[in-house]
Amino acid sequence: MLHDPNLRTVSGMRPTGPLHIGHYFGALKNWVPMQETHSAYFFVADWHALTSDYADTSRLKGFVRGLVIDWLASGLDPEKCAIFQQSKVLEHAELSLLLGMITPVSWLERNPTYKEQQQEITNKDLGNFGFLGYPVLMAADILMYRPKWVPVGQDQLPHLELTREIARRFNGFYGPVFPEPEARLTPAAKCPGLDGRKMSKSYGNGIFLQDTMEEIAPKVRGMFTDPARLRKSDPGNPDVCNLYPYHELLTDPETRAEIREGCTTAKLGCVDCKKIFMKNLEAFLAPLHERRAKYVERPELVDDILAEGNKAAKAEASRTMQDVREAMHM
Ligand code: TRP
Repeated sequence: MLHDPNLRTVSGMRPTGPLHIGHYFGALKNWVPMQETHSAYFFVADWHALTSDYADTSRLKGFVRGLVIDWLASGLDPEKCAIFQQSKVLEHAELSLLLGMITPVSWLERNPTYKEQQQEITNKDLGNFGFLGYPVLMAADILMYRPKWVPVGQDQLPHLELTREIARRFNGFYGPVFPEPEARLTPAAKCPGLDGRKMSKSYGNGIFLQDTMEEIAPKVRGMFTDPARLRKSDPGNPDVCNLYPYHELLTDPETRAEIREGCTTAKLGCVDCKKIFMKNLEAFLAPLHERRAKYVERPELVDDILAEGNKAAKAEASRTMQDVREAMHM
């Protein structure tokens, strides 16, 4: 591996169900090239899933495996990065506990993500201690690997800012142990759901990485386009169309220009536009489906990959914890 050990990176996702193409273009697409240049740690944040989904954990194990398969399908290569499971590296719990000692509750209470989710998520009780402490655990996940970059989506920025503040406070009390990591933002990829709302599992409006073309076809047929374009003879407006952003992600610039021209002059209808989308989506998904097949057939391979990754993560984590314990005179 050609990695510069100083260029470490870490990121994670919660195992809450299959990934959709919004996850791919919003995050994974950024992760995959980083494994070529960085010592990269990618982990399944299963403890974080519990912060809100603590009441029914019956599907958790399946989600953990499924998430890893989605990652492998997307091109993460266990030869090039460590793929591990948070709850199997107990050092994360220890560091989270210690960071919790120095984190003012007021920092957590004023976290915008916390306030927003408290208000928006009404179908479960988020008054639990673990949910308030979400960013402390996340700071532990990150600081454990002393990374330079953390590739995350825009929505994670408040959490990352807290991580930096916690690192600063720790270093202030106990000496310089943690560098302050920076976000590596994924260029905003617009991936609206089939119905125009944000693509989300809970809205049932997603195209999933594991979907077959047979499953995708009816979804695309029902997909909203320009709501003002009722007949093919009406000119359309790609800038308000729900499908067009996908051409930005999947279609070559020349064809894209033709689509724009055809749509605005009423020469290209939505049905044909969707056909181009389906063709390009199929080409995009084909290698993912090909890579996925092996792991669906032999899920024990996933367990082996995680076992290896857990070991690699643990080695790094125990080094960090030695420094932490020493700095804190434990
Ligand atoms: N909060 C992240 C999400 O919802 C998941 C996560 C947990 C994470 N710990 C992390 C991401 C550490 C980056 C680094 O997607």
